[in-house]
Amino acid sequence: MLTTYKHGILAVASAALLLVSIVMSVPARSADIDPASGLVIADGWEAVRANCTVCHSAKFITFQRGDRDSWKSMIRWMQKTQGLWSFDEKTEDTILSYLAANYPPGKSSRRKNLSPADLP
Ligand code: HEC
Repeated sequence: MLTTYKHGILAVASAALLLVSIVMSVPARSADIDPASGLVIADGWEAVRANCTVCHSAKFITFQRGDRDSWKSMIRWMQKTQGLWSFDEKTEDTILSYLAANYPPGKSSRRKNLSPADLP
């Protein structure tokens, strides 16, 4: 009698554990996306939408990855060669922080390289 009871608890507990692990293995819901531009809605996104979707689609941004420096050099390149206006310091900081935070390098599904020890 006692053992059946224990088994019942165990079954419930392991079912719960299983459920938890299934739920946890589903990637967290991705950030909200602005349906019109495709930009991640996060701090600074409106500055980016206002300044960065005038000449080209936001897809140029959402398909691109980079750290703060590489975003900065893309912006400098557009300023030098493509007629992009310059930003005041605060706006540029907002834009760069947004880009580096939401479109950082290496955020792809590719696994890390094997360590040399794991190679044949
Ligand atoms: C004055 C027009 C203009 C504005 C405003 C502008 N861009 Fe661009 N951008 C361009 C042009 C032109 C290209 C090159 C298009 C091509 O390759 O055909 C480009 C290309 C890009 C690319 C692709 C670079 C690559 O090598 O793949 C990215 C990323 C990008 N822009 C991001 C931005 C961001 C972020 C902003 C806002 C800070 C912005 N753009 C604002 C004109 C602009």
